[in-house]
Amino acid sequence: MQPPPTPKTFPALVWLALSLAVFTAAGWADETGLSLASRNKIMNRSNDEIQRILSTFSVPDRDSYPELQAYSRDDLYHDFFGGGGLYLAIKMLRTLRLQPGQVVLDLGCGKGETSIFMAKHYGVQVKALDLWTSAGFLDEKFAARGLGDRIQAIQMDATQPLPYAAAEFDTIFCMNSFSFYGATPGFLPRLLTHLKPGGQLCLGSEALSAEFTPEQLTNPPFIYAFKLPPPNEQVDVFKDDFVKQHTPGWWRTFFQASGLLEVETCQELEDAEAVYEELVRYEHENQIDPFDVQICLDQIEWGRNRQPKKTLFVLTAQKKFS
Ligand SMILES: C[S@@+](CC[C@H](N)C(=O)[O-])C[C@H]1O[C@@H](n2cnc3c(N)ncnc32)[C@H](O)[C@@H]1O
Repeated sequence: MQPPPTPKTFPALVWLALSLAVFTAAGWADETGLSLASRNKIMNRSNDEIQRILSTFSVPDRDSYPELQAYSRDDLYHDFFGGGGLYLAIKMLRTLRLQPGQVVLDLGCGKGETSIFMAKHYGVQVKALDLWTSAGFLDEKFAARGLGDRIQAIQMDATQPLPYAAAEFDTIFCMNSFSFYGATPGFLPRLLTHLKPGGQLCLGSEALSAEFTPEQLTNPPFIYAFKLPPPNEQVDVFKDDFVKQHTPGWWRTFFQASGLLEVETCQELEDAEAVYEELVRYEHENQIDPFDVQICLDQIEWGRNRQPKKTLFVLTAQKKFS
């Protein structure tokens, strides 16, 4: 199954389509009110301009992440989609009460790095579920890391009935994934049947500093909206991703209102800005996904004096006993 198209997953295609659009429609205002020509100019920053912006970026304090002492900078981001890498995973894990032998669902596990981290450092059994990553890829990776007997992968859509028993899991861990499908009607109560009473659900995710205003929902800020011309008109990053993102407060209300969970922690990472900026710097220095770097630079610059800006947060909730 192919991942849905986002700037993270097919930058070359986006570049191609945007370039075509600029050649054919230069000077025309697009639906965001910003002409395609000026949008392209912003997205084609010179190296000097990129360096100028990067020089204003902060860096997370590695000493405040002793759990990551043995991990190189590459390890922090290797095979993670989405923001935060192992920095965010650690902030999530600190809110959990994992014990060896417990069973964890890594929901939307991506390429399985968090499943590996939990199995290796916490001695838990992990069920790793993802839509875009094949179970074959994950099984091979888990076996190669010597964890084949501790992590079982499955590729499926989480909104479909899950092949797990009632109350099978002590913990459900979900990093940078829940917003894609979690607010689907009826999804949360169905998911929670698989969590033990007293068990924890933990979300760590990119989030927004403010809800989009009604006006922004109609006319999205260009930094969050990438609508490609035909034949890629199905690519709508705003609709497929950003419009499903919310503030930490919105998510707290969402989980609390289910009546099934008691929210224990809901907070933005105190170093969210540094964690996010460091990822962009890392991607730029290592020439990973230049399109994403340009987009993120735009989002960071735009968000310095406008709302909503992107942030990172952790929410952990306990399933009620009755
Ligand atoms: C931004 S990635 C994050 C992956 C991983 N947790 C990480 O932090 O690297 C979002 C993940 O959500 C998964 N996802 C999206 N929709 C899904 C669905 N309906 N069911 C299961 N997983 C889904 C995708 O397969 C993708 O791997």
